[in-house]
Amino acid sequence: MGLKYLSTVVVLATALTLTAQNLPLRQIPIDQGWLFNPTDDPSFSGIRVDEKNWKPISVEKDWDSQGHKGLIGFAWYRLKFVLPKALRNEDKLKEGMFLVVGKVDDGDQVFLNGEFVGQNGKTFNPGSKPPADFRTGQWQLERIYKLAMNDPRLKWGSENVLAVRVANPSGPGGMYGGGQHIRVVGMSNILDFQAQSAPFTFYGSELVKKFDLLNTSSKFSVQGTLNIDVVGIMSGKKIINNTRTIDIAPGEKMPINVQLGIKDEACKISYHIAFKDGDSYEFKEESPYILTPPVSNMPKINGATTFGARPGKPFMFTVPVSGERPMTITASGLPKSLAINSQTGIITGITPALGTYKILIKATNARGEATRELEIISGDRLALTPPMGWNSWNCWGLSVDEEKVVASARTFVEKGLRDHGWSYINIDDGWEIVGSSPDPKRDSDGNILVNNKFPNMKRLGDRLHDLGLKFGIYSSPGPLTCGGYTGSYEYEQNDANSYAEWGVDYLKYDWCSYGRVAKDSSLAELKKPYEVMRDALGKVNRDIVLSLCQYGMGKVWEWGDSVGGQLWRTTYDITDTWNSMSTIGFSQVENAPFAKPGAWNDPDMLVLGWVGWGPNLHPTRLTPDEQYTHMSLWCLLSAPLLLGCDLTRLDPFTLNLLTNDEVLAINQDKMGRQATQKVIDGSIQVWVKELHDGGKAIGIFNLGETTTEYEVNLESIGIAGNKTIRDIWRQRDLSQLQSKHRTRIAPHGVTLLKVI
Ligand code: GAL
Repeated sequence: MGLKYLSTVVVLATALTLTAQNLPLRQIPIDQGWLFNPTDDPSFSGIRVDEKNWKPISVEKDWDSQGHKGLIGFAWYRLKFVLPKALRNEDKLKEGMFLVVGKVDDGDQVFLNGEFVGQNGKTFNPGSKPPADFRTGQWQLERIYKLAMNDPRLKWGSENVLAVRVANPSGPGGMYGGGQHIRVVGMSNILDFQAQSAPFTFYGSELVKKFDLLNTSSKFSVQGTLNIDVVGIMSGKKIINNTRTIDIAPGEKMPINVQLGIKDEACKISYHIAFKDGDSYEFKEESPYILTPPVSNMPKINGATTFGARPGKPFMFTVPVSGERPMTITASGLPKSLAINSQTGIITGITPALGTYKILIKATNARGEATRELEIISGDRLALTPPMGWNSWNCWGLSVDEEKVVASARTFVEKGLRDHGWSYINIDDGWEIVGSSPDPKRDSDGNILVNNKFPNMKRLGDRLHDLGLKFGIYSSPGPLTCGGYTGSYEYEQNDANSYAEWGVDYLKYDWCSYGRVAKDSSLAELKKPYEVMRDALGKVNRDIVLSLCQYGMGKVWEWGDSVGGQLWRTTYDITDTWNSMSTIGFSQVENAPFAKPGAWNDPDMLVLGWVGWGPNLHPTRLTPDEQYTHMSLWCLLSAPLLLGCDLTRLDPFTLNLLTNDEVLAINQDKMGRQATQKVIDGSIQVWVKELHDGGKAIGIFNLGETTTEYEVNLESIGIAGNKTIRDIWRQRDLSQLQSKHRTRIAPHGVTLLKVI
């Protein structure tokens, strides 16, 4: 013990000396000292500007949180900094430097010393003029501009003026983090470290990850040492620590293989490369661990136990059944207007007259039989349990097309997601004609036209329905959608008719450019566009779920139901970081009393699996424990569960996360209560959701950075008596319920329990 401690201290001391004395200057921060002007003037790009009325601003967070809430349009940021000559001498690879402007919501144009440098992360040659339009939906993109050391726009050894013009067409705006700095291109930039995009694979008793270190340079070798350090997060156990030499010739690659035994905890894996040129690189990740037992071969009927539909309208409901195929699925007690396909479990027909119909579903395969009751409630309310499905936005953004949508739908079936209740396949923005295009947006009757990525919507609807899945679409009540495509303004009935003709089952209706139509921000104006669309949808011969997307304005949860919505977004967009997911998820407090069957608070879509908001996807940046938290919290909150990932790339861990029927049953519980926050104790939060069977689901979350032992006083959260307690992720009963329950929770992790 003593010896180990001593050696750690020695290593640390050496590293510190190196940093202080030997390491060359490679990077300078430019994240402090910025000034802000909330107006637009092209002369602000210049070197000499009267900055008397400019105010200091942080570039770490959006302008909305710094006194400029709701600022839409253009604004400017400026910074003066000295570029040390010493940095120039560090360009050993002769590759130049990166000017990192960080993240910008939504568009940026960057000027250095009065000259245009680039926009939205694309560097322009010296002397280029800025293009007129630079708005973009890429608010997640880190803006990095690459300049040669002899670029005429740089002033070495003296003051430089950096000016950033920001465009924000909707939502929050401004520069917001990403660690603004300037750095010399070093070995770390020519080495493509491919660990992030390589999945972990479960092979028998091993968890394996294989990836390459690729030297992208055609001139230089990459040399240094790679250290891999693996530690169990819950146990604190050191699992691997090894260092190897790397020497990769130009254009060559070095394979890396990380092999761990299967663990029942996540492991923190740190890869650290010390390059020979003084540059360094670090990548950290956590390994996945699977809690849910494998899906059984026996028939099991999953998903919602109630389904709402409107009398006289076309009906479709797929009974989700897991287990080995072939399977026979029958339904007794079905009203005459409905019939079940016994091979697929798809019930179709016409919704019967008003009333509650209790159906007995029976599923049989070679291994056995299962039965369960399904209630079909013919009435006015739809989405009696939170919608579960997929939406194209968080993965493909505006690059979505018909094939991508169909591929997702097929995966729902092939990977068995449909068997656990996942049913909607929703196209988000990007299927209409772009507003700025010269092409007609509508035909002579006012019917909306589609772009060439979606040649035939009716065919797409049919393809989805044939798979027993539901079809969702997106529009805006304004003239344009958020992505600049054609919206429904003044053509609401035409659009509702088109949707019905195409077989649409769900509409996400996104405020966006309606901000320009609304007279003011009164409640009446906030409600109006949704009432118009509700009425238009009410006139077509189809049940179409209406999802309001207006980011929670005017406390939409208080009135979303009354304007015909079945769900409503409560916040701005989510992204795949702990900060975003946890800030949104744990703030769903005030709206809880308004959730009920057919009326759901929507804290935005899931950021699990491969996401990217555009053509280039990456695996979610949430750690495995954060992903358990995300799913657990969204289920407790009775939130709509809309996956936003490339389903064709679902790895075993993510699939497992999405197919735990006991966890999903908490979300789909027919009583439709939303969990409430019962305890905040330091970094621990306890949320409780009441269930229709008299049970309670309890989420004990650790929002802190260290593994924590916590004892919940069950009586104080309203749980008493001789009850049983079950670990829902592991699907395992724990000991008989005591008045206190002790649990150990990983950082950002959760213990999810059910007591009954
Ligand atoms: C945003 C909305 C996103 C997505 C996007 C499409 O306003 O919140 O979920 O729909 O528009 O442009």
